[in-house]
Amino acid sequence: MPHENAKLLPAVRSFLSSPKQLLIGGEWVDAKDGKTFATVNPSTEEVLVQVAHASAVDVDRAVVAARTAFESPSPWSKMTPRERSHLLWRIGDLIDAHADEFAQLEALDNGKRVEAARDGDVAISAELFRYFAGWATKMEGTSIPMSVPGREFHAYTRREAVGVVAGIVPWNFPLLMACFKIVPAITAGNTVILKPAEQTPLTALRLGELLLEAGVPAGVVNILPGFGDTGAALVDHPGVDKVAFTGSTEVGKKIAAAASGNLKKVSLELGGKAPNIIFNDADIDAAIAGAVLGGYFNEGQCCVNGSRLYVQRGVFDRVVEGVAAAAAAIKVGDGFDVTSQMGPLVSQEQHEKVLGYIRGAVRDGAVLNAGSADAVGDRGFFVSPTLITSVNEQMAVQTDEIFGPVVTALPFDSEDEVVAAANNTVYGLAAGVWSNNIGTAHRVGARLRAGTVWLNTWHADDVTLPRGGFKQSGWGRELGSFGLDDYTQLKTVIAELR
Ligand code: NAI
Ligand code: MG
Repeated sequence: MPHENAKLLPAVRSFLSSPKQLLIGGEWVDAKDGKTFATVNPSTEEVLVQVAHASAVDVDRAVVAARTAFESPSPWSKMTPRERSHLLWRIGDLIDAHADEFAQLEALDNGKRVEAARDGDVAISAELFRYFAGWATKMEGTSIPMSVPGREFHAYTRREAVGVVAGIVPWNFPLLMACFKIVPAITAGNTVILKPAEQTPLTALRLGELLLEAGVPAGVVNILPGFGDTGAALVDHPGVDKVAFTGSTEVGKKIAAAASGNLKKVSLELGGKAPNIIFNDADIDAAIAGAVLGGYFNEGQCCVNGSRLYVQRGVFDRVVEGVAAAAAAIKVGDGFDVTSQMGPLVSQEQHEKVLGYIRGAVRDGAVLNAGSADAVGDRGFFVSPTLITSVNEQMAVQTDEIFGPVVTALPFDSEDEVVAAANNTVYGLAAGVWSNNIGTAHRVGARLRAGTVWLNTWHADDVTLPRGGFKQSGWGRELGSFGLDDYTQLKTVIAELR
């Protein structure tokens, strides 16, 4: 049981000591039909706590609450941009004040290391609130000249909120993905219904408590834990104006189809299968370190994970040896053990899926230079970081998003050959190039069909930078100034000066 973990903070124990509910209209309530589900610690496979499972009836209630909070003259609609800015900043500071607690909850629910959660997920979540706090007062329009002979006009644009936004998020960065949806939405004056992933609802629920404490008015952010059925009910609902989704390409396609009912706006951040290209003239030690980070960070459960390594033939053996040695040295273990360098995968389903891909590759004749097709230990969803060679472009391990610590490596000779291979995927989320030739790096970077390209680095990021996918990796861009476009709509106002 979680209370046997001696490292747990009193605040975390107390949070886990009661069943978790839905947040609707500023109140914590049970699901109407009383349904709950268990959320599990992936390091121990033990149940952490029961969580209310929102059904379509609860979605209805949340839509009414979010609509009421949005429509003028609600307290939210009357809040000035400066007040909204101060509120956002306050929430960022509150997250920081509870950083250790959030980090422990994330480690319990998702499996990731406590330090990784605190220094990554939690710190960036707080920063997101503060970055967007600056934008709340800068949602500017333009004034535009008109040329109508003999008449005078004043025409201008306003950037207005879209309305009720449903945010549906996955389990790989649970708090951070919740913030990716909530923060730009409320910065622009929308109201939100957030559906956390069924595997990892806890930090979103704790965030809900802090939002109320910070003074977010009732109904502005509603939180509905549940499964795909809850998400689908949100997407189908005519009272939802926009869906912002992060998750699998498969579900993204379902959402795009279902959203046609009331033509709600949709933004999608979907799967990836990022190519990471290392040229002979790269700084090879840096490239190896980048390949390891790109491949195994967050247990490989990362949409921008550098899962396809392409290494120019002159340095292929050296890179494979280097990555394999680094992978073999990674200590896999419980996220609460400070000596662990990699935690478990999030769920049994994910564990079986990832091991299945490794087994399939071995069956097809691939070679494991590091890692194993067997689970690590007999309890918890642990997998060894794995490097696979002797693969071809048709193998599932090379074409599919695996979402685990699995990297394949293939040799290449020419730039044209590697660009064609790198782009030979339905995905286009991220890509990377390692070369000390400035021309090669920028030219190849421009030829790669991906929303983010890293040159001589991987996972370098900031809340100021837009991110999103080419091809089947998504619609729209998140974060940075561009990240507000999908949460606003432009109104053109034309006044005749009589
Ligand atoms: P998923 O796409 O099924 O789940 C993501 C979110 O969507 C969850 O909150 C889920 O409850 C919700 N959802 C599921 N079906 C829905 C529907 N019909 N309508 C609305 N919402 C729905 O991803 P899942 O099953 O957790 O993972 C499966 C695979 O997807 C992973 O192995 C990985 O390859 C990929 N994935 C990719 C992510 C990314 O960021 N690119 C994140 C999570 C998963
Ligand atoms: Mg699913």
